[in-house]
Amino acid sequence: MSQSLKDEIQQEVDKRRTFAIISHPDAGKTTLTEKLLLFGGAIREAGSVKARKASRHATSDWMEIEKQRGISVTSSVMQFDYLGHRVNILDTPGHQDFSEDTYRTLTAADSAVMLIDVAKGVEAQTIKLFQVCRKRGIPIFTFINKLDREGKSPFELMEELEQVLGIRSVPMNWPIGMGRELCGVYDRMKNQVELFQGNDHSTIEVRKVNDYNDGIIREMAGDFLTDQLISELELLDVAGDPFDYDKVRAGELTPIFFGSAVNNFGVQTFLENFLQLAPKPTPRNSTTGPVEPTSEKFSGYVFKIQANMNPAHRDRIAFLRICSGRFERGMSVKHVRNKKEIKLSQPQQFLAQDRDIVQMAYPGDIIGLFDPGIFRIGDSLSQGAEVEFDELPTFSPEIFSKVTVKNALKHKQYQKGLDQLTEEGTIQVFYSTGNFDETILGVVGHLQFEVFEHRMKAEYGVDIQLHRMSFQFARWIVDEKIDPSKFRINSTLVKDKKGNYVALFENEYAMRTAMEKNPTSKFLETAP
Ligand code: G4P
Repeated sequence: MSQSLKDEIQQEVDKRRTFAIISHPDAGKTTLTEKLLLFGGAIREAGSVKARKASRHATSDWMEIEKQRGISVTSSVMQFDYLGHRVNILDTPGHQDFSEDTYRTLTAADSAVMLIDVAKGVEAQTIKLFQVCRKRGIPIFTFINKLDREGKSPFELMEELEQVLGIRSVPMNWPIGMGRELCGVYDRMKNQVELFQGNDHSTIEVRKVNDYNDGIIREMAGDFLTDQLISELELLDVAGDPFDYDKVRAGELTPIFFGSAVNNFGVQTFLENFLQLAPKPTPRNSTTGPVEPTSEKFSGYVFKIQANMNPAHRDRIAFLRICSGRFERGMSVKHVRNKKEIKLSQPQQFLAQDRDIVQMAYPGDIIGLFDPGIFRIGDSLSQGAEVEFDELPTFSPEIFSKVTVKNALKHKQYQKGLDQLTEEGTIQVFYSTGNFDETILGVVGHLQFEVFEHRMKAEYGVDIQLHRMSFQFARWIVDEKIDPSKFRINSTLVKDKKGNYVALFENEYAMRTAMEKNPTSKFLETAP
């Protein structure tokens, strides 16, 4: 490789920050994303992301939602430049769009921003998404939002992070007051205060101070809030965890920032600190060992496939995370699973608003590849030597439905669709082990059922019926001699596509009882 290309790749890698924002619906993810895009100049007006979101969710009609899919595709990755960094924000759909895709998208991120509503604390969806990030060991940064409202105290929230998520935290800044009293934040790292003035907290003034005892703070915030701030920060200095970069990088310690996205308060300093601390693209594991992003050969893997629901356009878009080398439009790469060379002539990159044709892209970037049906989730593409990235993780399904075909004559098409859609990773499929020949579908989000039903009809011409079941947990059972009679109460024993035994449970109690009754069996959350 020429030295100049090597330097170019190194420089581009150093610049990149690819992350996802994880949160529970309504914590303010859309608002925060929008503010970040405004700073990066990727959108011009506040409200554009929001308007899109509203149009996407205002309708419950499936076809209508799907018409909007073009929009959700373009917003799947948002890219902008800020202070010499190239920032890629991955959208992780929440709400009714929650699906396995949401989890898989996290595998394409190098770090995560966990957004928490100050009043609500750690919520259900945040826990799930956090756990996926935790397993990968990526750094997690926390933004506590809506400080302009009354909420839990910062200490209470730190305690909650530790109790509920099992992660220790280090506040990078600290609020001066809260709710209506909120008048600013104290930046513990830079020794400065950010003050908000005016009733709407709109004017932000940044002042350097010697420390939190500086008279400027008292002048601005008054005696009561200043005394409170000093005593809290003294406590934090003595009893809190020190900032430890290695622990942050290992995902063991989360830096916390306080702010209010809607008022644009604390957002800019958050972004600047985050970009400094967040990791650049890291090496990715492959079957032949870690692949360095700066390696000369281009490589990447598909983490998501978005189908176009319009039957007239059966094209799909495969989202590829670039792991190494330089992508150039029109380049030929090896489709490792198919063992075929393919030409990447129509890649798209997704900016905040428009679809652009990408000419060049680097590790950390996400490109969308036009997919005439050749890609599957987890596929690797590489230039030169074959690189196969470790398979994407599968997730334990939590919602189950029995599926039947309305017209028995369509059985062949149904089987074909079922095979292809499960291979694509749209759903997981199980078969009953009892007397009746039943097919059961398992997913993590309702949307996956809707997509399945719709695509069966649109692409394979098969009408299906789904019958919701009451199971909530799936565990793959590893045992030499399995006894199906032990999985009858509030549970059932099924098999996955590969013939592995899987027990489905209606509740945690049934699952625990089965575990106690079968001490020699292993109960795994995903396929062995
Ligand atoms: P989401 O994407 O995480 O679901 O959340 P979104 O940004 O849509 O925000 C959810 C609601 O919380 C919105 O109010 C939004 O304005 C509000 N919000 C976001 N950040 C802040 C903040 O810092 N402080 C306060 N007080 N509210 C905040 P909404 O009433 O649902 O919508 P809207 O009519 O205000 O747009």
